[in-house]
Amino acid sequence: MQLNQRKFDVVVVGAGGSGLRCALQLARAGLDVAVLSKVFPTRSHTVAAQGGISASLGNMSEDNWYWHMFDTVKGSDYLGDQDAIEFMCREAPSAVYELEHMGMPFDRNPDGTIYQRPFGGHTANLGEKAVQRACAAADRTGHALLHTLYQQNVAARTHFFVEWMALDLIRDADGEVLGVVAMEMETGEVSVLRAKSTVLATGGAGRIFAASTNAYINTGDGIGMAARAGIPLQDMEFWQFHPTGVAGAGVLITEGVRGEGGILLNANGERFMERYAPTYKDLAPRDFVSRSMDQEIKEGRGAGPHKDYVLLKLDHLGAETIHKRLPSIAEIARKFANVDCTKEPIPVVPTIHYQMGGIPTNIHSQVLTVGADGSEQVVQGLYAIGECSCVSVHGANRLGTNSLLDLVVFGRSAGRYIVDSERVRGSHKDLPADCAEQPLSRLARLESSSDGEPIQDVANSIRASMQKHCGVFRTSDLLKEGVEQIAQIEQRVQRIHLKDKSKVFNTARVEALEVENLIETAKATIVSAEARKESRGAHSHRDFQERDDANWLKHTLWFRDANRLAYREVQLKPLTVETFKPKARTF
Ligand code: FUM
Repeated sequence: MQLNQRKFDVVVVGAGGSGLRCALQLARAGLDVAVLSKVFPTRSHTVAAQGGISASLGNMSEDNWYWHMFDTVKGSDYLGDQDAIEFMCREAPSAVYELEHMGMPFDRNPDGTIYQRPFGGHTANLGEKAVQRACAAADRTGHALLHTLYQQNVAARTHFFVEWMALDLIRDADGEVLGVVAMEMETGEVSVLRAKSTVLATGGAGRIFAASTNAYINTGDGIGMAARAGIPLQDMEFWQFHPTGVAGAGVLITEGVRGEGGILLNANGERFMERYAPTYKDLAPRDFVSRSMDQEIKEGRGAGPHKDYVLLKLDHLGAETIHKRLPSIAEIARKFANVDCTKEPIPVVPTIHYQMGGIPTNIHSQVLTVGADGSEQVVQGLYAIGECSCVSVHGANRLGTNSLLDLVVFGRSAGRYIVDSERVRGSHKDLPADCAEQPLSRLARLESSSDGEPIQDVANSIRASMQKHCGVFRTSDLLKEGVEQIAQIEQRVQRIHLKDKSKVFNTARVEALEVENLIETAKATIVSAEARKESRGAHSHRDFQERDDANWLKHTLWFRDANRLAYREVQLKPLTVETFKPKARTF
C-alpha cells in the first residue's frame, strides 16, 4: 500500500513536559521538528503534576545540588545511576530559572524569589533536617509548566500533529531508527513520518493498574513501540504508589499537602508515621509512607466503614493557606471525596502513580540496547526522555518533584545533543520497503477479527490482574500467578474484536492499539518483578524482605522477542564526586 510520507529533521512522539522541552531546543536551533500527540498538547499528563519541581535554589534556607543528589540516590534505594543523578541535580537550578524566564507563573516569596515547599525525602546536609526544595506554582505546577512550554513551542514554530497516534518505530536492517508510522485519529489515515532522529516522550503507563493517578492516555505507547522494535525495557518491576490518592477515585492529592503541614491519621486519630519514620514522619519517601499506610490498614486501623483507607488531615492549616497554596486540592476533595478539607480530613490510599523503569538510555538520552555478549550499543537515531525512559535517575523509588525536573533536564539535554549531532545535518536514509508492514498488519487484524472479546473487557482484565498480583506488597505466589495470568491475557489481546466495524469511531481502533501497548508493559513488569528476589524501593517482597546488594544491585532488562531477562550494572560512579555507597535506608 502506498502511504503518505512526510520528512522532518526530528520527530518527537509525545507533547508532555519532556517532549515539549526537547522540541523547543530543536525548533529554536532552526530544525524542522514534528511533535505528535494523542491529545491536545496542554492536555498531556504533565498537566496533572501538582506539588512542584525540585531544584536546590536555596530560596527558603541553605541548599545545594550535592544534598539534592544525596537525597535522590538514597531515595532510589541505591539503584539510580549516580552519573545521571549528579547531572540532573546540577542542571536543576538552571532548568528552573529558564522556565521562570519563559514566563512560568511560579508562586513568589515576599522578596520576589520562587516559593519552595518541603517534600518527601528532601533534606539539608545529607539527611540532617527537612529542606524546602520543591518550586511550586500553587498545586498546579505541571499545568503552569506545560502551558509555558507549549506557548514557547508555538512561538518557535514547532509543527504539531494533534490527535495523532504513533503506531510503530521504523528500524532498518542496521538497527537504525528512521522515523515512525502514525495514524491520524480523525481520518484513520496511516502515514510515514521520516526523521533523522526520533524521540520517544510518551510518558508513563500507569493505566496497566486498576487504581491509578494516571490519565487514560497513559497506556505505555512508547514502551510498546520500543518492545516491538526489539529494544529492551529496564527496571520495569519498579512502580511507585503515591501515598495519597483519593480513596475509591484514584485522583492525586499532592504530597505538597504534607509539605505544607498536613498529616496522616489512622482510624484512632493517631499520627502513625511518627512510629514508622520518627525523623521524617509524614515526609518520608513515598515507598516508605505507602507501605506504612498499607500496614495500618492490614492491621485493622484503617478508617471508614470498611476500614480500608487512612485520613489526610489539613484543616489545621487554615482555610486561607489551603485556598492560597492548595486550591485544586480543595476542589478535588469536594468533587471526588465529598469533603470540605478546610473542615474534615480526606480519605486516601496508596495509588499507582509513576513507573521508574522504561526504555534504557545513556545520559544524552540515546536509547541503549545490550547484545547477547552483554555489550551495550546505542540505537542510532533513537532517543527516549521523561517517564517512558530509564536513564536511570529514579532507581527503585522516585523522590517527589524529581519527575518534572527529569522532564525538563533530559528534554533539554536530548535536544542539545541532537542539535550538535552530525546525524541531524546529514540526509535521510532510505526506508526499508516493508517499513509499515507491522503497524498495517496490526490494524488489518483488528478489521478482520470477528470472534474475540470487546476491547475494554481485555483492558480491564490486565488492570485487575496487575492490581492483584503486583501491588504495594508482593509475594512469590502472587507474582507467579500474575505471570501466568498475564500470559493468558496476552492471548486474548491477539483476538480483540471491534464490534460493528463500519460504525465504530477511530477512537475504538486507538483503544485497541493501546491495549497492545498495555500488555507489553504489563508483561515486562510482572516478569521482571517475579524474578527479583529482594525488597528494594517500590518492589516490596514479603518472601524476600531485605535489600540484597550482593545479588541484586543491578538493573533488570526485559527482552520481549527473546522472552528473556538480563541484567546490567548500576553506574555507582558519579561524574565528579565520590560515590554514595549503599547504606540501610532509615528515616
Ligand atoms: O505529590 C505530588 O504533587 C506529585 C509530585 C510528583 O509525583 O513528583
